[in-house]
Amino acid sequence: MTNQTVPKTAKLTFGDQELDLPVMVGSEGEVALDIRQLRAKTGAITYDPGLGNTGACQSKITFLDGEQGILRYAGYSIEELAQKSNFVEVMWLLLHQQLPTAAELEQFTHEVTHHTMLHENLKQLFSSLPKAGHPMAVCAAAVGALSTFYQNASANSPQQNWIDAVRLLAKMPTIAAYSYKHSIGQPFMYPRNDLSYAANILHMMFATPCEKYEPNPVMARALDLLLILHADHEQNCSTSTVRTVGSSGANLFASVSAGISALWGPLHGGANQAVIEMLMSIRDGKRSAREFMELAKKKDSGVRLMGFGHRVYKNYDPRALILKKACYDVLGQLGRKDPLLDIALELEQIALSDNYFIERKLYPNVDFYSGIIYKALGIPVEMFTVFFAIGRMPGWIAQWLEYQRDPEAKITRPRQIYMGATPRAYGQVEKR
Ligand code: CMC
Repeated sequence: MTNQTVPKTAKLTFGDQELDLPVMVGSEGEVALDIRQLRAKTGAITYDPGLGNTGACQSKITFLDGEQGILRYAGYSIEELAQKSNFVEVMWLLLHQQLPTAAELEQFTHEVTHHTMLHENLKQLFSSLPKAGHPMAVCAAAVGALSTFYQNASANSPQQNWIDAVRLLAKMPTIAAYSYKHSIGQPFMYPRNDLSYAANILHMMFATPCEKYEPNPVMARALDLLLILHADHEQNCSTSTVRTVGSSGANLFASVSAGISALWGPLHGGANQAVIEMLMSIRDGKRSAREFMELAKKKDSGVRLMGFGHRVYKNYDPRALILKKACYDVLGQLGRKDPLLDIALELEQIALSDNYFIERKLYPNVDFYSGIIYKALGIPVEMFTVFFAIGRMPGWIAQWLEYQRDPEAKITRPRQIYMGATPRAYGQVEKR
C-alpha cells in the first residue's frame, strides 16, 4: 500500500456495533490502527502477548525495517554512520535527532569527557558486593545508586534531565570498568580526559597504576564501532522498560537501571555472552557444529542457536553484516586468528541452508559476531553485555527524554484477560 492508498479509517465490526478506527501512517509508511477508543466504545480490549503488533509510542529516533534489513538513526543509515561517524556524535544524533554542528560536537564531547569521575563514596558500593557477582547486576545497582548522589534528579525539568543525561553517558564507562576491576581485585583506574570515549574505556578496563598503558587505536576504533551499532534499536525489551519506568515519573537513573536489568536476559543483550559460550563449547569438543544445530532445532532440548533470530528482523540484521566484516578487519589488523570465527561461519553456513532456519526466517543478529570482536579486544566474556549497555545508553536516554516530552504519553498500564477463579467463599484453613 502506498501512502495515497492507505484508507483514513479501518472499520471494525463487533457484534452489532461498527467502529471506525483512525488509521495513522508513519513517515516511512508504517500503518497503525488507532484503537484508543476501542474499550470505551465496545468494551473489548486487544490481546497481543509480547506486544509484537502494538505501537506504544510515536518516535523520531530510530527507524528499522525488519523485512528489508534496514536500520537508521534519525534518517542516517547505520552503514554510513558506522563508516563515517563516531560514538559521541551518534549520542548527540540520537538525543537531538540531528547531527551536531562542529561547535555543538566540541561542547558535547567536552561535557561527556569531563563528567566521567564517580563520587568517591560510590566506590564503596562496588566493594560491598561479592566479587563473583555478575557485572550487569553491579552496574544496575551503581546506576540506580546515582539517584542517591544526584538527588535533584527528577523527570520534571528539561534542564535537569539534560544534566542527568550527560552524567549518565559520561559515567557509564567508569561504572562498567569499575565493575570489572572489582571482580578481579585490581585498583580502580580513574578516567583519562585526554583520551577518546572508547580509548578511555580501554584505559579504565586494562591499565593498572604500575605500568604505562596506551590504548591501541585499532582496538579503540573497533570498540567505537561496536558502540555505534548498539546505540539504539527502537522499542526493544530494555528500551520499553526504560520508557515504562519513566512513564511513572521515575528519574532517569532509576529508569535506566531497570533497562540494564532487562538487557541482561539471554534472549536480549545477554545473548552476546551466550553466543561466545556456545562457540567455545563447540571449540572444546562438547559437540560438533552439526550436532549443536540439530539440538537447536528440537523444541524440547531447551537449546537455541544463540545470536540467531530476531523479533523484528526477518532478514539479515544489518548490524550483523557490518560486524561480520569487522571481525575480519579487526583480527587482520591485530594480526590474530580466532577459531571461534570459523565455528561461527560454519554455524551460519549450516543455518542458511537448513529449512528449519529458512522457513522461520532466522538470520544472524547483532550478537552473533560481536563477541568475537569483544574477545579480540580482551574484554572478558561476562563483560560483553555490560558493553552492550554502554552502547545502548544514548538510545535509552533519547527514548526516555522523548517520552517525557510527548504530550500523548501516559503511565504504562496494560490490561489483561483474567482467566483465574470466579468468586468463591473463603474456607477456614483447618477445613481445606
Ligand atoms: N534457534 C532455534 N530456533 C529459534 C531461534 C533460535 N535462535 N529463534 C527462534 N527460533 C524458532 C522458535 O522456536 C519458533 O519456532 P516455532 O515457530 O516452531 O515455534 C520460531 O523460531 C519463532 O521464534 P519465537 O521465539 O516465537 O520468536 P520471537 O520473535 O519471540 O523471538 C528471539 C526472538 C530473539 C527471542 C529468538 O529468535 C531467540 O531466542 N534468539 C536467540 C537469542 C538471541 O540471539 N537474542 C538476541 C536478539 S538481538 C539483540 C537484542 O535484541 O538484544
